[in-house]
Amino acid sequence: MMMHMTVEGQGSRGDMQGSAGHVVRSFRKREYRSRVGRCRYETVKMDARTPQNDFRQSLAWTSDEPMGLVIDRAEGPYLYLEDGSRIIDLISGIAVSSIGHRHPEVLEAVRAQLERHLHVMVYGEFVQREQAGFAADLAAALPAGLDSVYFTMTGTEANEGALKLAKKATGRSHMVAFTNSYHGDTHGSLSVTGRNVYRDPFLPLLPDVTFLPFGDVEALGAIDASVACVITEPIQGEGGIIVPSDAWHRALRDRCSETGAVLIFDEIQTGFGRTGSLFAFERFGVVPDVVTLAKAMAGGMPLGAFVSSRERMAAFRNDPPLSHVTTFGGHPVSCAAARATLRVLLDEALPQRARWIESMVRERLEHPSIVEIRGRGAMLGMQLTDADLTARMVARCRENGVLLGWTLHSNSLVRIAPPLNIDESVLREALDVILEALG
Ligand SMILES: Cc1ncc(COP(=O)(O)O)c(C=O)c1O
Repeated sequence: MMMHMTVEGQGSRGDMQGSAGHVVRSFRKREYRSRVGRCRYETVKMDARTPQNDFRQSLAWTSDEPMGLVIDRAEGPYLYLEDGSRIIDLISGIAVSSIGHRHPEVLEAVRAQLERHLHVMVYGEFVQREQAGFAADLAAALPAGLDSVYFTMTGTEANEGALKLAKKATGRSHMVAFTNSYHGDTHGSLSVTGRNVYRDPFLPLLPDVTFLPFGDVEALGAIDASVACVITEPIQGEGGIIVPSDAWHRALRDRCSETGAVLIFDEIQTGFGRTGSLFAFERFGVVPDVVTLAKAMAGGMPLGAFVSSRERMAAFRNDPPLSHVTTFGGHPVSCAAARATLRVLLDEALPQRARWIESMVRERLEHPSIVEIRGRGAMLGMQLTDADLTARMVARCRENGVLLGWTLHSNSLVRIAPPLNIDESVLREALDVILEALG
């Protein structure tokens, strides 16, 4: 419990000697107003300095019930906890650790870049070897027309950039997105996210956004020549792992081509092999005008990107110059990690391995409480009969050494997204634990 002691004075944090002899900061000063309105400070004694207490007292939470696992280290498909236990990671930090945690080639690339330089200049001014090199590697892995890469730090920033690019390149402002979609939590991305429960507390968002039902071919007729862009996930992730038909993808591509609307595919979750091809659009036989990427791109380092044609990207160069800049986009250490990650994904044919994971999961996970397994490759959702069972099952798996979670959409859909290079024996073990937990 906290102990309170009131003092006046300037405040930040105080230091004291910890029991292990090292200096720990155990006091902080908190500003408050006295009853007569004077600004005062109180020194608050924090609980004993453990990672758990620091997490509880000083870190802003995103929900009332964070998982709260105390991580010691991570390696390959495993998380190692402070209490000495080991967990098989079947969610990969939400589709990030696709080549496993701390892949040796990523570590080597990171170390080599650490020896050369960290941040040197805001994005787009200096020639940085790993940044330019990864842009070229990525463009080579993408179809013609997706040959100019703009780096960001995160997925939501990649979507922000893509939306601005479409507005600037077309001179139009109307945007089309889909029900149930998720594109990130900054204002622009939230404006095209199709779930009112996440949007309502933050209204008003961007005007001029129309939501169409996801996967409905007829509804695509609403896309007309006023539309700057249409943004969609090729497979909806947080919306509940929803795979639309090939016909819908083709109709969407055709409608955008007819009207001049820029087609943006958000491959932030589906990208880099997760769905069984390097990018999900390959499996639907269509190519978008802009693709946005992040998550698995840099093997566990933060990096995002939006990629389009050189001609379209030229819209950001002038009127005014510097109309879209970022300080940390394309951090050189992240780009070095991303080059190694892409090499590993391609050399080890991990997109194909994602298809093998899908067949293993579908074959093994048969149980009366499993209504359906949805998704493609290693981006799968296991639909269970009810929320209580789901919570019990996830808790039991956790006790028995398997980490599962659910999507933002539903408390009865369990996400299965292991590293793509998970060993067969480890995957089998994890699936057995799931079956046992279902009873
Ligand atoms: C499809 C999709 N788009 C965008 C984002 C946002 O990415 P970030 O959390 O890196 O901002 C996510 C994150 O889950 C996502 O799944």
